[in-house]
Amino acid sequence: MKALILSGGRGTRLRPITYTGAKQLVPVMNKPILWYGIESLVAAGLTDIGIIINPETGEEICTKTGDGSRFGAKITYILQTEPAGLAHAVKTAEAFLNNNPFVMYLGDNLVQDRLDTFIYQFNSECLDALLLLKQVPNPSAFGVAQVTADGNVTTLVEKPKHPKSNLALVGVYLFSPAIYGAIAKISPSSRGELEITDAIQQLILDGKYVKANELEGWWLDTGKKDDLLEANRMLLDTSLVKMPIKVEGRDSQISGRVQIGSGTTIVKSVIRGPVVIGHNCRIENCFIGPYSSISDDVTLVGTEIDHSVVLQGARIEDINCRIVDSVIGQRAHIRTTLQRPKALRFLVGDDSQIELV
Ligand code: TTP
Repeated sequence: MKALILSGGRGTRLRPITYTGAKQLVPVMNKPILWYGIESLVAAGLTDIGIIINPETGEEICTKTGDGSRFGAKITYILQTEPAGLAHAVKTAEAFLNNNPFVMYLGDNLVQDRLDTFIYQFNSECLDALLLLKQVPNPSAFGVAQVTADGNVTTLVEKPKHPKSNLALVGVYLFSPAIYGAIAKISPSSRGELEITDAIQQLILDGKYVKANELEGWWLDTGKKDDLLEANRMLLDTSLVKMPIKVEGRDSQISGRVQIGSGTTIVKSVIRGPVVIGHNCRIENCFIGPYSSISDDVTLVGTEIDHSVVLQGARIEDINCRIVDSVIGQRAHIRTTLQRPKALRFLVGDDSQIELV
């Protein structure tokens, strides 16, 4: 069985971050989202992995992720020249997939469950598609499945106005080669994309064996700022282990589960976990509160921050007000001389400069 990770797309919902970088490389708990997917596939024994990339961000993904050896996998990069839909991405990867069954994993999704049990079910029941589902409070925002008591999928509707169930399609799918025939029969949707939901609906129409199974753990689609922050919160909550702190720190209080990288200096600051801080950062006169991930080479001076993600090389200085629920792009620079702003909430792109005066 092979694996196909989709890391092309437009990323419009995470602009401005995605004007300059791939959303799949945005770090949660200081590791690119995409890498969690790769690790999950490798843990399930799938090491022959294709990654769909686009012309804008593909090079950055290849350079950072490499040939797969660091994950114990072999990675093949496949260029999709335009973001023409998830089913179009599968079509683009046909030569790589070479008539094998495969797991398709959306590169901006995170799934807590191990994949082994789903792969076992797919193989042992000789399915043409196994869909993973999760109950959600707002099904209208997702692809929604209707499923019989024994797990057979009867219909799939993309973002229905009047959803017939609360079971959303999670971004991980298992397919037999029958999916190629189904994709060949469908046409682009009203938004101009070859939709994977239409291809699966076609499988059902063709009498193929399509089943679904519900996830037990969490599932996060990080395509928007708040979902990204939720993924960061969830991972810090469930996966961060307390490490012995070996930093050059003076007059600081560090409590709770905190990880700090080498070369980072912490002066006159309070850090309250769960918090992860990367390498070579400078933290001075700061409060860093729970659910914050600070990447490498970040400078924080006179700043209070919590429930936020700060990307590599960003600099935040003298913000006399707590920054919350924010994503700060790489090398962005924020500073202020205002004494008491009421609240500040940011989604700041790479290389931005903000001065509050
Ligand atoms: P989406 O998040 O559904 O689409 P998008 O990336 O274009 O984002 P937005 O809606 O904000 O504009 O895509 C899910 C994953 O699939 C994501 O990792 C990008 C990837 N993808 C492709 O690889 N090729 C495609 O043609 C599309 C549409 C998405």
